[in-house]
Amino acid sequence: MGIGVDASIQDTAYLAAACRAAETAKTNPRIRDEYAALFVDEDGAAGARQRVLAAGGDEVVARTVLIDELLAAEIATGGPRLVVNLGAGFCARPYRLDLRGCALVAEFDAAAVLDVKERVLAPHRSSCPVRRTPVDVRDRERLADGLAATVREAGAASTVVISEGLTPYLSGPDLAALAATLAGVLGDAVWLTDVVSPSSAQAMATLAQQAGAPVRLYGVASLESFEDSGWSCVDYRILDVPRRSAVPAGAGRPIGSAGSSRQVVDGVLALRHRR
Ligand SMILES: C[S@@+](CC[C@H](N)C(=O)[O-])C[C@H]1O[C@@H](n2cnc3c(N)ncnc32)[C@H](O)[C@@H]1O
Repeated sequence: MGIGVDASIQDTAYLAAACRAAETAKTNPRIRDEYAALFVDEDGAAGARQRVLAAGGDEVVARTVLIDELLAAEIATGGPRLVVNLGAGFCARPYRLDLRGCALVAEFDAAAVLDVKERVLAPHRSSCPVRRTPVDVRDRERLADGLAATVREAGAASTVVISEGLTPYLSGPDLAALAATLAGVLGDAVWLTDVVSPSSAQAMATLAQQAGAPVRLYGVASLESFEDSGWSCVDYRILDVPRRSAVPAGAGRPIGSAGSSRQVVDGVLALRHRR
């Protein structure tokens, strides 16, 4: 499959790192990511990204906080020892969190993103082994091969998948295909992912356009893209998105153990798949 991640989409890895660096520099940060600033230093367009950051930085930090919480809860069960991070960008979880209980964190993203990450983090020690695989997650065959290799390497019976800030770059069919690939290769797994509604995706695309960083974004209209391949929603936390009027109050709180497949609000989901 001759596809590749657009350079403008790869650049969003710098944006997410810039959001976490800005949060870390605050007096009472919600997360501490000392590694994020290393990637801001690498970013030739750091100044230009400040405008985008001002428009959406808080949401990026909020989703990181929620995924950290949900990941910690999964790890605490003593179950999953393989963590798969899709569209991992400059996420430094194996460095900033204690993941000694994990056999492996397997990160997937575009080659150029992973090359920068490898170089920048080389002097630093992760709390568990990390394997980085360049892949466009829309390439089902290569992704399935990469996942199967990580499962073999980790020797893990169950897996936590993270996709943070990835789904807005996947069309409905691509997201459904990804869900099917993960289900097929991983069997027993929990998938922690943020999702945005179609109206939020539209609002974000407009902001990005105004900030001079045009990018095509997709919202998730229903959870059927996940449910059709056997994933069921076991937790759903609302994201605080003050710039989008259609989102109900109650940020960060669960909205139930089984999200409706007819209504998607911006949030972080925990989905479970059983073999
Ligand atoms: C907004 S960034 C988020 C990065 C990271 N998850 C974080 O939270 O810091 C989106 C990331 O997804 C990656 N990405 C987008 N589409 C992708 C695809 N089809 N295959 C692999 N990676 C993709 C980009 O390269 C980028 O690193």
